[in-house]
Amino acid sequence: MQLNEQQQSQFDELGYVYLPDVFSATEVALLRDEAHQIFATERPEVVREMDEKTARTAFAAQNYNEAYRRLGRHPRLLGPVMQLLDGNVYMHQFKINAKAAFNGAIWQWHQDYGTWARDDLMPEARAMNIALFLEDVTEFNGALMFIPRSHKEGTLAAGHDVKTTSYPLWTIDDDTISRLVKDGGIVSPKGPAGSVILFHSNLVHGSPSNMSPYDRTIVYLSLCHVDNHIRRFKRAEWIAHRDFTPLEPLADDCLLELAEQPAAARG
Ligand code: SIN
Ligand code: MN
Repeated sequence: MQLNEQQQSQFDELGYVYLPDVFSATEVALLRDEAHQIFATERPEVVREMDEKTARTAFAAQNYNEAYRRLGRHPRLLGPVMQLLDGNVYMHQFKINAKAAFNGAIWQWHQDYGTWARDDLMPEARAMNIALFLEDVTEFNGALMFIPRSHKEGTLAAGHDVKTTSYPLWTIDDDTISRLVKDGGIVSPKGPAGSVILFHSNLVHGSPSNMSPYDRTIVYLSLCHVDNHIRRFKRAEWIAHRDFTPLEPLADDCLLELAEQPAAARG
């Protein structure tokens, strides 16, 4: 899959593109079932909320789950990112964010590249997220919020917040957010399960808590140009990957093929 000219210029200008209905109901159902099974397992890659029970985020599922191994090489996700980053990419980070009904906590305002630069010494913001909704995202269940055009600000000053949630994050202060929002406003792309969002690694974003009875699971592939790989290995390998091998896209029907197999044979 490739972006058209209008989508490319939206990405350059605003820092994100929303693409509705990229994955079918069958593909999404497979990934959603597997995600909820992963959240129910005890493993270090599954980070809990502060209640120590609710899954917050599951890292690196492409390395231990067949459906996510395929999603991590899916041509509908790799295609647009390879197009925008102009070449081969590797997986810097892979996470399934749960934002569970009633208990999913906030993600404070931040830039992803801020973390990748400070913690992992990634040389440039030549990396980005492509995210897939596994449930409908509405105004009620903790939708992402973006500040359009904030990706043009470079890497902003940030403080390391280790208290607000169960997961440490380099977050941006209120005065800076107020200044950026005055210029760019806030948008919150919402839509049905199966939709995709691409966003620049310097785009300022966050999301509120989920007090609704509806889960909001989103998978994020953080892809980096192979020449721009990280230089420091401070964080766990399952958070900031160290395999810089270029990803080879699989066939377009790779998930459908798996969905047709009996659950026990999926590996
Ligand atoms: C993130 O910014 O990394 C996660 C935001 C979310 O899933 O709401
Ligand atoms: Mn983020």
